[in-house]
Amino acid sequence: MWGGRFEAGPDAVMEAINASLPVDKRMWRQDLAGSIAHARMLGETGIVAPEAVQRIVAGLEAIAADWAEHGPPAEGAEDIHMAVEAELARRIGPDAGRLHTARSRNDQVATDLRLWVRDAIDSHLAVLARLATVLVDRAEAEAATIMPGFTHLQVAQPVTLGHHLLAWVEMLGRDAGRLSDARARLNLCPLGSAALAGTGFPIDRESTARALGFAGPTANSLDSVSDRDFAIEYLSAAAQCALHLSRMAEEIILWASQPFGFVRLPDQWSTGSSIMPQKRNPDAAELVRGHSGRILGLMAGLMATMKGLPLAYAKDMQDDKAPVFEAFDLLELALAAMAGMMARLEFVPARMREVAQTGHATATDLADWLVRVHGLPFREAHHLTGRVVRAADARGCRLDELSADELAAVDRRLDSRALALLSVEASVESRTSPGGTAPQCVRAAAAEARARVRTWAGSFAA
Ligand code: ARG
Repeated sequence: MWGGRFEAGPDAVMEAINASLPVDKRMWRQDLAGSIAHARMLGETGIVAPEAVQRIVAGLEAIAADWAEHGPPAEGAEDIHMAVEAELARRIGPDAGRLHTARSRNDQVATDLRLWVRDAIDSHLAVLARLATVLVDRAEAEAATIMPGFTHLQVAQPVTLGHHLLAWVEMLGRDAGRLSDARARLNLCPLGSAALAGTGFPIDRESTARALGFAGPTANSLDSVSDRDFAIEYLSAAAQCALHLSRMAEEIILWASQPFGFVRLPDQWSTGSSIMPQKRNPDAAELVRGHSGRILGLMAGLMATMKGLPLAYAKDMQDDKAPVFEAFDLLELALAAMAGMMARLEFVPARMREVAQTGHATATDLADWLVRVHGLPFREAHHLTGRVVRAADARGCRLDELSADELAAVDRRLDSRALALLSVEASVESRTSPGGTAPQCVRAAAAEARARVRTWAGSFAA
C-alpha cells in the first residue's frame, strides 16, 4: 500500500509485529459500513465520479455478503482496513484505489472501534436487562422470605430475600447507566479527520456521521484520531459491572457452602469433583468472580498503553482492540452465566430463617421500641437492650424465647408488648421506611425496578 517509498520489503519479524488482522478482523462489519458511508459521501460531494462510487459500493456490499457467509480472511494483509481494500481491488480493479481519498486508516480505525464498542454496549445492555429481570421476578416471589442481613459478615438484622435480590438490581442499574453514558459520549464520528490534520477535499462529515448513526462529527481532527477515551470508558464500565457480578458470585458461593446452606445450585449450574463423589461445586460463580479480575486488568492495561502517548496517532494504539474484545467476551459470558444461574438457583428459606434467628438479630427492634413507646434516648435504650441480650445469652435462648417475667426482671418497662416485637417477621414487617426491607416495600420496589429495567435495553434508535 505504501511501497512507493521503499526499496526493500519488510522483515518477516517486522511484518509479524506490525500485523493486526488476526485481532481487528473482528471489526470487518464496522469497517465495511464505514467505507460504504465514506464512498457514498465521496460521490455526493463530487470528489469521486458517481460511476466509480457505484462500483466501489457494490463491491463493498458484495464483500459484506461474502464475509457474512465465510468470514473475513485471517491473513494476507496487515490489518482489516488493508484487507478490505485489497479484496475490493481484486473485485473491481483500479477504482478500488479511489476509496481511500480524503481518508486515513487513523480516522478509519477510530471510527470502526467506536462503532464496535457501541454495538458491544447495546449487547451488554440487553443481557444486563435479562439478568435484572430474572432478579426482579425472583425478588417479587421472595418478598416476604426471611433471611439474615449481614454487616461484617456477622448476622446483623433480619431482612427479606427479595430485598437482597433487589440490592443486586440496583448495582446492575448503575452499570447500565454507566454503559449508556459511555455510549452517548462515544457517539460522535471521527471519520473525515484523515491522518491527523483534516483534509483539503470538500468532504461532508455530517453526511458520513449520520449514515453511521452518530449524533454528529467530532470537533478536532488531532483529538479524533488519538482519542481512545471511549474504549477506556467502556472498559471501566465493564470492570465495574464485572466487579458487581463478582460480588454477587461471591455471595452465591458462600450461600451454597455447607455452613450457610442458603441455596442449592441446580444440576445445570454445578460441577462435580474428579475425586470426591459427593461434591457439587459452584464453578460458574467462581469463574465469574475470576473473570472480573481479568477484566479489571484489561482496563488497567489500556490505560497504561495510552498514558504516555503524544498527539496524535501512534501505533501503540493498535493494541486498543484486544483488551476491548477480550473484556466484551468475558463480560458477556459472565452476564449470561449469572442470568442462567439466578434463574435456577434453589433457595432454602428454612435455613435462611434459622440463621436469621441467631445472633439476637432483632435487638435493634427492642431498642427502637423503648425509644418510641417509653421515650428513652436511643443510647439508653441501646444499653438496656444490651442487658436483655445478656439475659438471653445467660439462659442460652433467643430474645423471643425470654418469658415475660424474665424480660420484666431486666426492666419493668419491658412488658409483653415488647415480646411481640422480637420475632424476625415482626422485625422485617416494621421496616417500612422508603427503601426498607418490609415485604410491602419490596413488592412496590420490584414493580418500580421492573419498569426501570425495561428502559435499559433497546432505547437507542439507530
Ligand atoms: N491497524 C492500525 C490500528 O489499529 C490502523 C491504523 C494504522 N495507522 C497508521 N498510521 N499506521 O491502529
